[in-house]
Amino acid sequence: MAATATAPLWTALESLPRPALTELFADPGRLDRYATVLDLPGGPIRFDWSKTHLSADVEAVLGQIAEAVDLEGSREALFAGALINNTEGRAATHMAERGVGNPAAAEEAERFHERMQALVEAIHEGLLGEVKSLIHIGIGGSALGPALAIDALAREDAKVAVHVVSNVDGAALAAAVAKCDPATTLIAVASKTFTTTETLMNAISALDWLREGGVEDPFGRVVALTAAPDKAVAWGVDETRVLPFAETVGGRYSLWSSIGFPIAMALGWDGFAAFLAGAAAIDHHFLEAQLAENVVIRAAFADLYYTQARHCSSRAVFAYDERLALLPSYLQQLEMESNGKRVLADGTPLTRPSAPVTWGGVGTDAQHAVFQLLHQGTHLIPVDFLAVGIPGHDFDPAHHRTLLANCFAQGAALMAGKAGGDDMARDYPGDRPSATILCDELGAATLGSLIAFHEHRTFVSAMMLGINPFDQFGVELGKAIAKSIEAGDAQFDPSTTALLAAAGIDG
Ligand code: F6P
Repeated sequence: MAATATAPLWTALESLPRPALTELFADPGRLDRYATVLDLPGGPIRFDWSKTHLSADVEAVLGQIAEAVDLEGSREALFAGALINNTEGRAATHMAERGVGNPAAAEEAERFHERMQALVEAIHEGLLGEVKSLIHIGIGGSALGPALAIDALAREDAKVAVHVVSNVDGAALAAAVAKCDPATTLIAVASKTFTTTETLMNAISALDWLREGGVEDPFGRVVALTAAPDKAVAWGVDETRVLPFAETVGGRYSLWSSIGFPIAMALGWDGFAAFLAGAAAIDHHFLEAQLAENVVIRAAFADLYYTQARHCSSRAVFAYDERLALLPSYLQQLEMESNGKRVLADGTPLTRPSAPVTWGGVGTDAQHAVFQLLHQGTHLIPVDFLAVGIPGHDFDPAHHRTLLANCFAQGAALMAGKAGGDDMARDYPGDRPSATILCDELGAATLGSLIAFHEHRTFVSAMMLGINPFDQFGVELGKAIAKSIEAGDAQFDPSTTALLAAAGIDG
């Protein structure tokens, strides 16, 4: 679908009347229409989009765009395993890791999972001696998912303590090894391509640390998680400890594959299986629910309304649960690496805004730091709140009541505002949108559902705009320049040349 065909519809979306949120609530059916509870394997999750400017008018125009771009066809193509990542000539089969979609891809994923389960269970049973810690080394999609899942689900009672190291700054590895004993530590090297500079450099230093700590055969304590198993073997990892996954699983969608090894090591296989099941339930909802009932499509429609019609250049995510503190960073990669594009899938320029900047933090901390701008700044920033009914601690339940009261108070305040009379400094304009996701309990299945919801939400935005969300060529140029700096074989602009000289790395 050529972008020109949808241009008038996007213009129509911009031109719609803009009733205030409080006016939209004059409709007594609004809450029923826009707050949906899904019964999911980890318990119910409430998706409340009623405090956004979605309306029948807005949805009608977005529905026309969805029809014009054949959103339903793209959704089917994604699950069928069509070559939807057209610039790289690949399918995108992360749903197959959850047992959903293309049968051949799902069978292959199951075989890889069986191999992973066997190794996880053998290690738990003592295959590699006593294992108390696992240092998981990877970056981007090979680190953010495991880090989020471990922080959310394995703060207590982990079968193995997992430390995720991503940054090439040796201080990151130093902090991890300080908490580990070489005699009882495993190293997981996680890299889809098994070529990433940061990961391989950290892995080599971790091997040195094991060796210096008295481990005679450091490679004997390494597990590789990769879509390039030959490279891992050539690098020195024993083939029996190489856990492959399919090339068609994108890096930022790879935590469901063997990249999730540390999650299974920390939670046990049942926990990892529950994580997959939670995601699979959202796959089915996204694939099977009608457009009007589909919480994934509804969320993407709201995202598009704000970026395309209201010109919002960022969206904020606040987790009112300490265990989800890494979720905003995870979503940042998912959304910005997927949809931060300036070219359409057909190679023509994107003439509309692409992905907004995703940012956020945890509540209540963020209230005392950045919410000033959300309430009274000049930017309109749609906010997502995430909260969990059952607390993740045993302290006085008053903590949790206060936490949730603050979360819901923020959404209410953003919407209602408060007139300051003559005192503009104390005036809250209100009519600022927010959505709230409220889970009953934060277990592995619920986290799986939350992540899959955001994956598909990102996909819908991409399809509506005509973007391929599954490539990321934008990250390559900087990597290539960094390599030529290290090789000392390139000329740079005067500023860069002076910086290199000042830091003493000018070849
Ligand atoms: O540089 C971006 C990127 O390619 C991400 O998309 C990916 O998740 C990350 O680097 C790590 O890549 P790999 O898993 O191949 O080491």
